[in-house]
Amino acid sequence: MPDFDTKPALNTLISQSEIANRVDALAASIAKDTSGSPTILVALLKGSVVFLSDLMRRLHAHGVSPIIDFLIVSSYKDAQESSGSIEIVSDIKSSVEGKTVVLIDDIIDTGRTMLEVKERLEAKQADKVLTVALLDKPSRRKVDISPDYYGFTIDDVFVVGYGLDFAGEYRCLPYIATIDN
Ligand code: IMP
Ligand code: MG
Repeated sequence: MPDFDTKPALNTLISQSEIANRVDALAASIAKDTSGSPTILVALLKGSVVFLSDLMRRLHAHGVSPIIDFLIVSSYKDAQESSGSIEIVSDIKSSVEGKTVVLIDDIIDTGRTMLEVKERLEAKQADKVLTVALLDKPSRRKVDISPDYYGFTIDDVFVVGYGLDFAGEYRCLPYIATIDN
């Protein structure tokens, strides 16, 4: 676990330009698959805020301008492991009934967050819920879900940057990095 007193070194895992290229490709696919249907982007705070802001502008470049809403769920706090079930801290304000929901998170780890939120949105009568994560750690999966769209598959390493944090730090880094112990 990183120790902030010793200023741990950051190692770039995915660069800014790699992220930008991949986000554009994801936006192109999502724009193609959602064209013609009323669409809402639902982003999980806080981790997906940077990804959302880039993705929505690339979606606009590909000809779609969906509305957006946010969900806050209880998460890792200061640890590097998720517990069991998640808790909705702040729910979306928009109706998803009859809409295509694009559910956005920064990373899928155990998959519990994405699966539970997806089921809740389906229960609110969304027409369909498409899931998108910038990063996927399939080796860590504990429940049966794989994202409809993902940016990069990574190994079982803890990463920060581009919205992802460790104990609230590092979200502002413009690239994805691992932390040296
Ligand atoms: P899951 O419910 O186990 O899939 O957890 C997903 C959430 O865990 C993400 O939204 C992140 O907030 C957090 N998380 C998982 N892996 C990492 C990581 O490597 N760095 C930072 N946050 C992570
Ligand atoms: Mg998160």
